[in-house]
Amino acid sequence: MIRETNGQGQLLIGGIPAEDLASAYGTPLYVYDVERIRSNAKAFVDTFKKHKIPAQVAYASKAFSSVAMLQVAKEEGLSLDVVSEGELHTALQAEFPVEKIHMHGNNKSLSELEMAVDHKIGCIVVDNFYEIALLTDLLAEKNTQMDVLLRVTPGIEAHTHDYILTGQEDSKFGFDLSSGQAEKAFQLLNANEMTNVKGLHCHIGSQIFETSGFTLATKKLFETMSDWRNRFEFTADVLNLGGGFGIQYTEEDDPLALDQYALALIEEVKHQSEILEYTMPEIWIEPGRAIVGDAGVTLYRMGSIKEIPGVRTYASVDGGMTDNIRPALYHAKYDAVLANKMHESPDQEYAIAGKCCESGDMLLWDVKLPKVEPKDLMAVFSTGAYGYAMSNNYNRFGKSAVVFVENGEHQLVVRREDYKEITRLDLSYNQQ
Ligand code: LLP
Repeated sequence: MIRETNGQGQLLIGGIPAEDLASAYGTPLYVYDVERIRSNAKAFVDTFKKHKIPAQVAYASKAFSSVAMLQVAKEEGLSLDVVSEGELHTALQAEFPVEKIHMHGNNKSLSELEMAVDHKIGCIVVDNFYEIALLTDLLAEKNTQMDVLLRVTPGIEAHTHDYILTGQEDSKFGFDLSSGQAEKAFQLLNANEMTNVKGLHCHIGSQIFETSGFTLATKKLFETMSDWRNRFEFTADVLNLGGGFGIQYTEEDDPLALDQYALALIEEVKHQSEILEYTMPEIWIEPGRAIVGDAGVTLYRMGSIKEIPGVRTYASVDGGMTDNIRPALYHAKYDAVLANKMHESPDQEYAIAGKCCESGDMLLWDVKLPKVEPKDLMAVFSTGAYGYAMSNNYNRFGKSAVVFVENGEHQLVVRREDYKEITRLDLSYNQQ
């Protein structure tokens, strides 16, 4: 991983010394290199363009949603995947083109569906039979039509380094292909005049490095589409292959370049279209992590240091599982440096602790750093996806601020939550 450093041994983010950002905005601080967000988006978009494949690259906004982020996504010509009223509201605030918004969710509420229908979003990815009933009743009541995709589970469960094949997918999401559920759902939607079935959707997992899971899913979906063409005279206009493209967190991770993921999909889609003589559908993908993950860095100020002789040395930061719950939740690994000591050799091992009242609140268990002293500035890399998005107010800590950096300039895009704002929703209890 390349780290930009200036002559004073300071880490640079988008050309700006990390210390300047930390001094200006405080810590913990999420910093995004916007050029990186743009180049990640372009890697997908340009690959489809180059190969003349009609496509939509939908940013999965669950990875990091804020008005500024969605403005950048809009500028890059991305579509958008939302899963809640909050994510849709953020998109509307960012004036995201509604026809490019898709809504997901395994238990969409009536009010979520209503919001999507009323704002005429591009498409709803239908997930289950309960939703079909809610949606078709709603559309009939409003006498309006909606484009839908059918989310299916192709029986492929992908992990970072491999995938497992199961006959029937044990997942809370989507309609199972092997048991005939998907076909039944298709028939219900296809027969309903208010729902226009555009095609199929699948998402096989997240942080996937190998293309074999994606290509196998593509093959399975094409086989289903071909079967339905023959039996129901249905031709899919859209094939949505979901997100999940893996990124590098530590040196141990060896992901593909983003255009290579797109290329693998393109090749398989072309191949399947040819052998099944299927008119090439529009290809949609939904990357979240791959767009924002490696564009984000979190800055922390170091505080207390506790050495347990012969065991380990704990060094605490001024954040933790409130701004990054991934290590506690998934044992996720990260790489970190001391942003103010880039010229010093990282020859000491530390366990980096958060400040929440919980022993499991650890950010990194074993990272090599130069000697840590209070007030040093630590930078944790690749925190752009599912960091701010999953941040929380445990111990009533306020959420951290977000800063965008581009063209040598920095700009606050999400304000820090002040501790006084923590009680803004609280009401006092007056006992009668
Ligand atoms: N599409 C669908 C239907 C999804 O469920 C997801 C992620 C994505 C796209 C985007 O996946 P990505 O490209 O970001 O891998 N909180 C976890 C990740 C959960 C992903 C959930 N769905 C984490 O921090 O690793």
